[in-house]
Amino acid sequence: MGNLYHNKCLFKMNILILFCLIFSPVHGLNLTPIVNLTSGPIQGKVTEYASIDVYQFLGIPYAKSPVGKLRLQLPVKPDPWTEVKSVTDFGPACLQPMNPVLNIPYTGKTSEDCLYLNIYVTESTFNNSSERLRPVLFWIHGGAFTFGYGNEGNTEGIPMVPLHDVVLVTMNYRLNAFGFIYFGANEPRIPPNIGFQDQLFALKWVHENIHMFGGDPNSVTIFGESAGSVSISAHLLSPPSKGLFKRAILESGTVYIDHDLDALITGSWELYNKTSCSKSEDVLECMQNLKAKEILNGLGDKLVAFSFTAGGDILPYEPSKILAEGLYDNSVDLLLGVEKNEASMFMNAIDPMAFNHFSPMPISYREATNFLERIFDSKSIDYFRELYFGPETNNSDYLRTQLERAYSDLLFVCPTFVFGHQYASNLGTNGGKVYAYYHTQRPKAYLPFFNEWMGTFHSSDIPYVFGLPLINPDYSQKDISLSREMMKIWTHFAENGEPPMVGETKWKPFQEKMSAMILNIDDWGKTETGRVEFCLKQWDYLYPHVSKKFQLFRYQSPIL
Ligand SMILES: *[C@@H]1O[C@H](CO)[C@@H](O)[C@H](O)[C@H]1NC(C)=O
Ligand SMILES: *[C@@H]1O[C@H](CO)[C@@H](O)[C@H](O)[C@H]1NC(C)=O
Ligand SMILES: *[C@@H]1O[C@H](CO)[C@@H](O)[C@H](O)[C@H]1NC(C)=O
Ligand SMILES: *[C@@H]1O[C@H](CO)[C@@H](O)[C@H](O)[C@H]1NC(C)=O
Ligand SMILES: *[C@@H]1O[C@H](CO)[C@@H](O)[C@H](O)[C@H]1NC(C)=O
Repeated sequence: MGNLYHNKCLFKMNILILFCLIFSPVHGLNLTPIVNLTSGPIQGKVTEYASIDVYQFLGIPYAKSPVGKLRLQLPVKPDPWTEVKSVTDFGPACLQPMNPVLNIPYTGKTSEDCLYLNIYVTESTFNNSSERLRPVLFWIHGGAFTFGYGNEGNTEGIPMVPLHDVVLVTMNYRLNAFGFIYFGANEPRIPPNIGFQDQLFALKWVHENIHMFGGDPNSVTIFGESAGSVSISAHLLSPPSKGLFKRAILESGTVYIDHDLDALITGSWELYNKTSCSKSEDVLECMQNLKAKEILNGLGDKLVAFSFTAGGDILPYEPSKILAEGLYDNSVDLLLGVEKNEASMFMNAIDPMAFNHFSPMPISYREATNFLERIFDSKSIDYFRELYFGPETNNSDYLRTQLERAYSDLLFVCPTFVFGHQYASNLGTNGGKVYAYYHTQRPKAYLPFFNEWMGTFHSSDIPYVFGLPLINPDYSQKDISLSREMMKIWTHFAENGEPPMVGETKWKPFQEKMSAMILNIDDWGKTETGRVEFCLKQWDYLYPHVSKKFQLFRYQSPIL
């Protein structure tokens, strides 16, 4: 899950050669004016796009380094400093294992000292901060709560920021065991959802400081993809996050993904038992004294081993209960949506041949049924076989597509649309509006070597949202057009709480029509109703019948 690829890199077939193309705009060491934060003065750098100067403040510490006595604890404010701090380079990414989906190690710097954020703003907005404040877009990155970093995939704010004059903030939060380990009641001093607490802490930082950069603290839109989108759905239901943002954009994912408390606690003790702490009486103290590497080495082979759970102040109850009982702030406007073929990229974990990214092997009806049995329990399997396959056929391409659809529905598509529907259903007349999209245009240059069957896979939205096609020559004219439109939609929504016209079509919210706007330049202005209705109809039966053994994200061996 998440933005799985460093999208400046082209990954060639199964040869581990990375071609990293450098698209950094030309900049000398032009420095910005000094900004006097309450914690101390900082100075960023200036870059340029289309003759517009863009200020970049990179690697601002929003919390104290979470090491030693602060490991596995809530974030705290950084110690103040007096010398001007140069914020011209990204802070290190949080500690993370190798991403098993493509088996690519992250080559940038990582550190346990990783709680940094980045700000991008045009010079004119920065200059004019005492007169006029602009909307803020606060990005939460994906990566299955296990990998990733704030500046991954978002093109250093260019061209989104100069073209639409918004203030973009990206940030790191603690990942995997460092951000989500939870021992339950046996170690109450380690709270759940520490990664969410980091996000909340950064949001508070933005609320208090962003006006100094020209950003409007009363017009913050949180947006994110995959695990970032899941995080956003949690903040929508979270009492302490209330009031820190006005709008939210959820790209592929919500809290309706697996978040089994018992599995999290068991996994946490399993990791503990693997470390030299296993015989120790004091869990917290011993864990805080371990070498970080020992924790990292204990992570195991699951893609999502440590993730959020219900309980604690951010997500006090099960999400379904919070939504059903209307226990949430209903004033926030939402834009949410999915990719047409979300799960295709993860299915090689089920079978590396049948769902090979490059040249998949044929599937028979019997095999397809076996694959379906991996996700639905035995009580419901006849129902879902009929629902997804219909009459028996050995048409391999059809079966693969239908399996992909079932996996996508379960993991991303239905969780997103159903969350949006439930959120909208409980809004009073003064509540926010919910707008849905359905992205079906596969980017030409983003992993172009993938086989056709992969379609518009998970994370395909990210290059369009940040405008990568405008600065990377490998994209097509259609990709450039769609990217321009999507940047316009995202920033217009952030500024106004509703999307602009799409061609001749007015985008109706879920409150008026249960359909999603198709984002594809060839189908401009058309809407999708079938997939949304399918989810609303099937979800109440589907969700409880997911197999207990369902472990899509366990990778046994390198995939490529
Ligand atoms: C920041 O503080 C320095 C030193 O006190 C001062 O010279 C400067 O004018 C301040 N800058 C702003 C923008 O307030
Ligand atoms: C911003 O302010 C600086 C310093 O006063 C000035 O040199 C620059 O031209 C201004 N830029 C814009 C776009 O207004
Ligand atoms: C600065 O803000 C004022 C007040 O909103 C506005 O009239 C002016 O055009 C802005 N200037 C720039 C350079 O954005
Ligand atoms: C961890 O080790 C303890 C003590 O040996 C044992 O009781 C417990 O079951 C183990 N837990 C897990 C999840 O392996
Ligand atoms: C599918 O293939 C199997 C094995 O070859 C065969 O037994 C079955 O009749 C075929 N089904 C259809 C609908 O062609």
